[in-house]
Amino acid sequence: MEPARLMTRFRPPAPTPRSPVLSLLRVILQGEGNLLALLPANAYENEVGRLGYSRRDIIVVNEPALVRRILVNEEGIFPKNELMVEALDPLVGNSMFVSDGQVWRRQRMMIDPALSMMRVNRAFASMSAATDDYEQRLDKAARDGESISLDLAMSHLTADIICRSVFSTSLQSETARQVFEDFKVFERSVAQVKLLRLIASPAFKPARQEQAVLDACERIRAHLGELVDSHLGPDASSTQWNDIASQIIDAQSPESGERFTRKELIDQLGVFFLAGHETTASVLTWVLFILATQPEISRRVRAEVKTVAGDGPIAFEHIREMRYVRNVFRETLRLYPPITFLPRVAMEKTRIGTLTARRGAMIMVSPWTIHRHRKLWKAPELFDPDRFDASREAELTPGAYLPFGVGPRVCAGAGFAQVESALIIARLARRYDFTALSPAKVQPVARLTTRPSRQIMARVSRASD
Ligand code: HEM
Repeated sequence: MEPARLMTRFRPPAPTPRSPVLSLLRVILQGEGNLLALLPANAYENEVGRLGYSRRDIIVVNEPALVRRILVNEEGIFPKNELMVEALDPLVGNSMFVSDGQVWRRQRMMIDPALSMMRVNRAFASMSAATDDYEQRLDKAARDGESISLDLAMSHLTADIICRSVFSTSLQSETARQVFEDFKVFERSVAQVKLLRLIASPAFKPARQEQAVLDACERIRAHLGELVDSHLGPDASSTQWNDIASQIIDAQSPESGERFTRKELIDQLGVFFLAGHETTASVLTWVLFILATQPEISRRVRAEVKTVAGDGPIAFEHIREMRYVRNVFRETLRLYPPITFLPRVAMEKTRIGTLTARRGAMIMVSPWTIHRHRKLWKAPELFDPDRFDASREAELTPGAYLPFGVGPRVCAGAGFAQVESALIIARLARRYDFTALSPAKVQPVARLTTRPSRQIMARVSRASD
């Protein structure tokens, strides 16, 4: 069968958009949790619109030029939203993901070199080694006929890769394993966007974190401190390490020559753990779900990997040759952008397109709605990786694709994530067939990242072709 035709018919799961009143009712009946279900049908058609039922002014912006204005933020009036900053503060303090102005600029200049393509090339060995180890687990699951949770599998593998490339330690070490376990507690408790509170609260009302979240953060920071100390101690000359942590420890501010303090190092390296594994795990879970329900796509991926790399090791240089793998990754990021919303706040009254935003208005730039917007995409709800093929470039609307954000706050780890994801997709699709159990029950929800509402279980077997 001709693969492109088959794919144009595949419509992966998503909540059906309803009228504003029905959307609100759906959220009230289902309880806290799914911001995606709150988005009314017109959020996928408007250039800019107001979520009319909230006490706080909440404005969803889709039009690419307006999105650019907000995210590039030359006027300096759209910082990151304070609710998100507060939620992340106990874990990552005033680190690069949430800081602003001069503080952010200094941090970004010091950290960017640690994620350069040269460094990604060096981290490739860690990515490959972690995948080798994970394949052993999957081989065993295939032999024993066990089913696996795709979400847990991908969280484990991406956390292992972050630990190895940042701290030169694998998830088998007790400290790294503790960080991973406590992070799961953090993700579960902080993740639920308290929707009804969001709707009912006025702007700038401080929200206290639950004790369980604060405790988990304290434990994570203590363990990160141990990992930092292993790189800082008297015997640990930084030349002994050749990882991302050592590069950040050595980084100096271009203006003052100062280095990060120990507390700042814990903040910044916490960001790597937070931003660097949850996001990649989210998109890879969706890629595997698609492979586990669409055998034709899976076979096409495998055929490409075998053409490029045969049955041997996949090298850094192979990654850019695997165009279909890249397009499957891009199309999955379009339909399931891990960072569902990029929330900002209007610090002064301002006009946004046809609307006036009050001071304190929450401005939601939402990759989720922009990527599924009826006027920006052809058949937006269908999974069609070939839309990213060079031959169809003219179909794409500039500014309508932003899984890594836009402007100065664009993802610092995009290169790392792209290489890591392509490697994992290529290796797992070449070696295994996945079969999703109960695929009809799978639905996405917006938590800390875009995740399935319940774990996706799948059977795994060694590929026979
Ligand atoms: C598929 C995987 C990933 C996606 C989709 C993603 C997406 C994003 C997005 C949308 C932002 C901007 C947020 C905003 O403007 O509010 C961001 C920021 C950031 N990401 Fe990623 N990310 C991914 C992987 C990574 C990885 C692997 C790392 C590190 C190794 C990383 C590190 C960061 C950092 C440090 C920032 C903050 C940048 C700043 O504010 O200057 N990300 N990411």
